[in-house]
Amino acid sequence: MARAALLVGLLSVPLGYIATTYGPGIARGVTVLGITRTPVAGVYESVVTLEETGVCEDLAYHADSGLIFTACEQSLESRLSWFPPLVHFDTAGVDKSEGALFVIDPKTRTAERVNIVHYKGPFITHGIDVVTDTEWDKDDGSSAVYIIAINHLPNPHYLSALAKGASTAGIPKARSQIEVLHYIIGSSIARHMRSVWDPAVVTPNDVVAVGGSPNELLVTNDHFHREGRLRSVEELWFGAAWTSTVYLRTVPGKEVGGVTASVATEKLHNNNGIGHGRPGTSEIAITSCASGRLRLGNVVKASSSSSSSSSSAKVVNFTEVVEFDSVIDNPSYFSDPYGDLSGWILPGLSRAVDLKKTFGDPAGVDPSIVWYARKDTRTGEWVKKVLFEDDGSRIRSASGAVLVAIDPKEEGGKRKGWLYVTGFVSSHVIVVKVDL
Ligand SMILES: *[C@@H]1O[C@H](CO)[C@@H](O)[C@H](O)[C@H]1NC(C)=O
Repeated sequence: MARAALLVGLLSVPLGYIATTYGPGIARGVTVLGITRTPVAGVYESVVTLEETGVCEDLAYHADSGLIFTACEQSLESRLSWFPPLVHFDTAGVDKSEGALFVIDPKTRTAERVNIVHYKGPFITHGIDVVTDTEWDKDDGSSAVYIIAINHLPNPHYLSALAKGASTAGIPKARSQIEVLHYIIGSSIARHMRSVWDPAVVTPNDVVAVGGSPNELLVTNDHFHREGRLRSVEELWFGAAWTSTVYLRTVPGKEVGGVTASVATEKLHNNNGIGHGRPGTSEIAITSCASGRLRLGNVVKASSSSSSSSSSAKVVNFTEVVEFDSVIDNPSYFSDPYGDLSGWILPGLSRAVDLKKTFGDPAGVDPSIVWYARKDTRTGEWVKKVLFEDDGSRIRSASGAVLVAIDPKEEGGKRKGWLYVTGFVSSHVIVVKVDL
């Protein structure tokens, strides 16, 4: 999510006050939040709804298998009562929650549910990543992956204080962690391997495995404040560069404990989605959701002088920032197999300003926009275009999007693709045929 919580207090802060106080940033704030934007319903050749899927915040494209993975909440009711990233803290929603994993085959554009075994407990889903199991070596030709997913569990201390009728003041309501599962491609079960947690994981949003290993994770904390008025300030004011990305290491084979954490990025505004760049590289993208910025860089070894960590820790070295005219969420890299149209896909909201009104409403409408940005190889300039736009009639919100190219031979030489779009409050994943 994005970033979701955007604006829970937005309109409670007088814009005139912000304008005079923070001046020039305001014009851009008006643009990014969509204050003056009228949502558009784009016209597309084909739109398919993957009915099995539920509220899926993120999509992970796994290049080796060509499959897309997603982690979903099958009950919108539950999402709108317990989902810490949207400041929904009604613990009754935890009991109603039904977390689910799906694997989507872009060849057939169908989704199949993957059942989780060896894990008992709620699975309150958010960001997801998938990494090849490079040690999987079976004669039967099978291959396997690790699925890594955020899980927004309630804090046991908060639950016990509630149960006792004791004061809950000062007790964080959520105690989110990361789940690591193992999945054999083509099977219908994912086996839970371990949970990963460290006190540095506070408001996790998205996760990637780095170094090709499920034992090295980068996790974004999307807010500094878990709730309250300062959280709204944090979203609205682009200067509130208070969030971090955490580098977590676990010990291979160990199922409990053994987690080391260090800071991989800090002092960024509303650090949100994180995604891999070109396959086989250490390229990484992190979005500052509420300020509409895509930050590109590489995962590198932390220098020994780095305050944050030991010699084997990793950090992100940013090299570039690309600005968009809306909030943007989970970034995904489109690797073009048929030409040189590779680039970044960025889903967002047309009018993030309206989230304050819609965020808890089961019938709310959240128009969306999906951007496609690529660097022109001749000029070195970023070329940005809107790949998909919706007034909320086809999908409610967009926070994850993956583009899969169509062979131009099938389209009379034209460059087209299937765009998978999902949202943090959407009912299903949809697939749209788009022109590149
Ligand atoms: C970080 O990126 C800059 C710019 O590309 C580069 O010059 C520098 O060597 C990089 N630092 C590390 C530690 O890789």
